[in-house]
Amino acid sequence: MTSTDTGRQSTAGHHEAGTPAVGAIDFGDFRRTTPIAGQFGYERGQPIDRHYIEGFLQENAPVICGHVLEIGDNTYTTRFGGEHVRRSEVLHVTSDSPSATIVADLADAPEIPPDTFDCVICTQTLQLIYDVRAAVATLHRIVRPGGVVLATFPGISQVDDPAWAPSWYWHFTPASARRLFGDVFGNPHVQVESHGNVLTAMCFLHGLASHELRRGELDIADPRFPFLITVRAIKA
Ligand SMILES: C[S@@+](CC[C@H](N)C(=O)[O-])C[C@H]1O[C@@H](n2cnc3c(N)ncnc32)[C@H](O)[C@@H]1O
Repeated sequence: MTSTDTGRQSTAGHHEAGTPAVGAIDFGDFRRTTPIAGQFGYERGQPIDRHYIEGFLQENAPVICGHVLEIGDNTYTTRFGGEHVRRSEVLHVTSDSPSATIVADLADAPEIPPDTFDCVICTQTLQLIYDVRAAVATLHRIVRPGGVVLATFPGISQVDDPAWAPSWYWHFTPASARRLFGDVFGNPHVQVESHGNVLTAMCFLHGLASHELRRGELDIADPRFPFLITVRAIKA
């Protein structure tokens, strides 16, 4: 195999292979038009996006307290809020979820009173809501002043989920996340971060799991490849 340069030091700390010449790429296991595994990586371990989602929630664990709303289930409320959670609520969009304490459409949820929650955990949900600006307005309305919304959404993703694929409307960028939340919460109250890089994105598209990558590879946030986006927004 030939290379057009001699390789370079990656910010992951190890020496990366040089740039192969045109026609000399070694595609290896990736020379296929179907993914190595489906279902985001669950078949092989922890999905790569969950590595970043759970890291973000761990960092923000101190604000997961009091009256907490989570979408779909309360796994993260329990895991990261623990005994600091006074009351845990679960919102589901349809009435078929036994764990739901609130059935509502975030795009239009007048049944949820304003200024209710200390913290809303809204992971991997906004991509499924067509009127996403209305949903962010609802998040702002239902959190109490001083309360926090912790949101995550896909930047680069497969949509291999029969339940949600038909209503998977959006992929986001840090710019769209900043405007979506900044317009409602006010820019100074919104922190947006982009996670991942070309390798994590490629491996996630192939359904690989986080433990199949090196820690240093996962840690690199390359803004050219916003794979997973996190938002922390505080209601003033
Ligand atoms: C992929 S799950 C994500 C939530 C889950 N806790 C997680 O982190 O994986 C998608 C969730 O989006 C919710 N959802 C979809 N459309 C919605 C809408 N219009 N309003 C409120 N929730 C919605 C569903 O109830 C579902 O629980």
